Amino acid sequence: MKVMSSTHPTAETTAPYGSGASASAPDRHSDYALDKVKKIRTVHLAQAKADGEKFAMLTCYDALTAAVFDAAGIETLLVGDSAGNNVLGHESTLTITVDQMIPLVAAVSSATKRAFVIADMPFGSYQISPAQAVETAVRFMKEGGAHAVKMEASAYYAEHVRAVVNAGIPVVAHIGFTPQAEHALGGFRIQGRGDASAHVVEDAKALVEAGAFCVLLEMTTNDTAAAVNQAIGPVPMVSIGAGSDATGFVLVWQDMMGLREGKMARFVKQYANLHKIFSDAARAYQDDIRSGAYPAPEHSFEV
Ligand code: KIV
Repeated sequence: MKVMSSTHPTAETTAPYGSGASASAPDRHSDYALDKVKKIRTVHLAQAKADGEKFAMLTCYDALTAAVFDAAGIETLLVGDSAGNNVLGHESTLTITVDQMIPLVAAVSSATKRAFVIADMPFGSYQISPAQAVETAVRFMKEGGAHAVKMEASAYYAEHVRAVVNAGIPVVAHIGFTPQAEHALGGFRIQGRGDASAHVVEDAKALVEAGAFCVLLEMTTNDTAAAVNQAIGPVPMVSIGAGSDATGFVLVWQDMMGLREGKMARFVKQYANLHKIFSDAARAYQDDIRSGAYPAPEHSFEV
């Protein structure tokens, strides 16, 4: 069933929320299935949890890669502050700035038709006050064209999240291992072991209570992840190294495509070996230049 709205020429899903179509329970799942959604929005990610569907998230930092992932059907793209490492060559995510991230967010947003684009708030851009958090989030929406922002947070930052949500900006609350707090946490360590599990669950509950529409949980034990997923009820949880009891799953694209070399975190599954593809192509190009095989007549202009 298509529902027309006065402000939009066509409905975005075959059965939009609040249309009443959900009354017939047997069709509900197929009507709301993610692969039928023309433009992914927060409501679809929540509905995925209700329906037991899973969605994919990949990091993304440029227009061409965004277009590939969007066309492949990846539901959510995260312009992570991991751009600090993966684009700018920094040692950690701590040093990238809002001004450096905004062009990357704008590139991804402009190349995306269906995916939900999330901008990561970099270290120092939201911790100072709720007002600073709103100011930064507004820039990502206005200048970057993002659909939501992500904040590495704990219960302590609930008021910062609430202020951003009250400004009309959806927030993903990133908890568990939070790379911006790498030094305070003593390095890249699994969070939520033993008694610490309760703290992670409390953080999740406080941030959801403050209005976060999604929780992203990084590097915790499976038990802690399951406890968080249960504690936040209908709110979808995205896992990165936090087990399989989640609605969404995220990886850094250069890790899962094998562009980066070296030891990967245990949670990374590699789907391609781009490092080899790139270096083989680079060598073949160099060989062609040395041998004179490139440029060939078909690569030059005779007149
Ligand atoms: O910045 C990033 O890429 C992230 C993901 C690893 C979750 O925060």
